[in-house]
Amino acid sequence: MINRVKGTQDLLDLALFNYLGEKVKKQFEIYNFTEISTPILEPLDLYVRSLGEETDVIKKEMYLVKGDTKESGSSEEVICLRPEGTASTVRAFVENNIINTPWKVFSIGPMFRHERPQKGRYRQFHQINIEIIGSKAIEQDVQLIKMLDRLFFETLAIESYALLINFLGCIEDRKKFKLILSTFLESKIATICSTCKVRKDKNSMRIFDCKNDSCTALYQEAPAIVDCLCDGCKLEWQSILDNLEHLSVSYSIKKTLVRGLDYYSKTVFEFVSPDLGAQNAFCGGGRYDQLALEIGAKEDQPSVGAAIGIERLMLVLDAAKDRLLMPQKMPLYIIMPMAKEQHALALLLADELQAQKLCCDILLEDDSVKSKMRKANKMGAKFVIIVGEDEQRNRMVTLKNMITGSEEKIAQSTLVAYLK
Ligand code: HAM
Repeated sequence: MINRVKGTQDLLDLALFNYLGEKVKKQFEIYNFTEISTPILEPLDLYVRSLGEETDVIKKEMYLVKGDTKESGSSEEVICLRPEGTASTVRAFVENNIINTPWKVFSIGPMFRHERPQKGRYRQFHQINIEIIGSKAIEQDVQLIKMLDRLFFETLAIESYALLINFLGCIEDRKKFKLILSTFLESKIATICSTCKVRKDKNSMRIFDCKNDSCTALYQEAPAIVDCLCDGCKLEWQSILDNLEHLSVSYSIKKTLVRGLDYYSKTVFEFVSPDLGAQNAFCGGGRYDQLALEIGAKEDQPSVGAAIGIERLMLVLDAAKDRLLMPQKMPLYIIMPMAKEQHALALLLADELQAQKLCCDILLEDDSVKSKMRKANKMGAKFVIIVGEDEQRNRMVTLKNMITGSEEKIAQSTLVAYLK
């Protein structure tokens, strides 16, 4: 027995998954986004440069793939399975010389992170990734958040969730803040964990990613970056909060929210649900004003975006699934030939029904009538169309209504019209 790889899932019913995809596409279209697709394979360097060497994703979670030989030389290019969609989208923007900005795009696909699997945390998972590339206007962040809030609250009718938000300022603000934070950490050096000690020196803001209970409790008292903003950033932060209120979006400020990736500047946010347990964020995002330059763009391209974790969103929706107006399955008609001699006729009848877009299946296995009926019932058949020797001879079928149990004989020639 060969089992699936740890942390991956077999999705055996894609109804909810596809329903979400359809809903999201319709919603994003209203906000003028275009769907794109980028490769699952990308150069490792793309993520090392953009996510940051001290992040958990780069340090512990990358899946490396045996590389191709670079065309120009003999050195091997290290290729990886993408862990997220933002860096790839920005790479696509730069590489394809997109000039019409803001470039408002979204994509849906699998991501890979070698994390410790648990509820809502997988090694292969799916994201709906939304990006607005080439827009400095901070109101864009508000519009993006409003679009997501509307998706969760109105379209998907999720009842209990919260929007957490914070503001990481500009490069200068973060430089200033890191010094203040380092002084704070220095004063607590005896109590912080060994990883935080290393992070303090290498990239102090990453200490907020620590999952250690005593560290997280301690960091509640840490200085807040929103208290270190320059005048311009202060105005932008206030404008975000005012406009969220203006658009009736509820939020909570979380001063330790930095998000686990290095590319963020200014706005960061997460949508969290109490139904998810430890991995409570089903959507996260923020502004990343320097990323395009880091990836090789010639000009500055301030940007903002977010990603929704589809598996986590499905967990959130699981309880409320009945409230969703999911597309109804087509009624199923099962053709039941009584013996091998009626198989050819069964094929012909099924073909007629399917040509008329009626959902139809045939029970071709050599089972007893009783077990065939049981099977049809389990399959959720609305009608069973029985064809035995008599029916074949008289060009009829026996139609059994599986809800009422009633049976009637009708001519084969009128079957499709009757069912329609
Ligand atoms: P992220 O917070 O790393 O951000 O991931 C976004 C969402 O993907 C999370 O909120 C969660 O729902 C889901 N997710 C992440 N890791 C896992 C996992 N191991 N298993 C299941 N679901 C997971 C990003 O990826 C950024 N690229 C978002 C972004 C877009 N920022 C700006 N633009």
